Amino acid sequence: MEKNIDRIFIAIALAYLVVGMGLGIGMGVAEEFAYAHLHAHINLVGFVAHAVFGFAHKLWPALRESSLAKPQLYVTLVGAPVFLIGLPFAQFHAQPLLAIIGSLMLLAGAVLFFLMFIGKSKQVQSFA
Ligand code: HEM
Repeated sequence: MEKNIDRIFIAIALAYLVVGMGLGIGMGVAEEFAYAHLHAHINLVGFVAHAVFGFAHKLWPALRESSLAKPQLYVTLVGAPVFLIGLPFAQFHAQPLLAIIGSLMLLAGAVLFFLMFIGKSKQVQSFA
């Protein structure tokens, strides 16, 4: 699992990119832009954030040796869909609970990655 953590993040990022672009094209074809926020977050949280985590793991292999690497992976992999499914409920039905839970999980993922980076900064520098 730790060995493949970069590829897991990047494969999932690319899946989000396909879905996000598909939604963007769908919005354009239908000329209905109500899902623009969802589209933006699928692309940014789904594609960009996962891809950055994946490339960071590829660039600095010391990161995956951190004891925080697995919790960071899981909290991000679960937090993103919870957040993205929650967004339309918050936007259209005034039910923000899922979006709140998902966003806090994503924040936890960002904090963990920050701590991993700081914790492994010596090894990370040696790969720069
Ligand atoms: C096939 C590729 C894509 C298509 C067809 C597409 C299409 C669209 C459309 C139709 C809108 C709504 C514009 C409006 O409300 O007037 C939009 C908004 C947006 N898109 Fe895309 N998009 C694509 C890829 C991306 C990617 C890769 C990203 C980011 C990495 C992105 C980020 C955004 C953002 C930030 C907005 C603004 C959302 C908002 O106003 O809430 N898009 N896009």
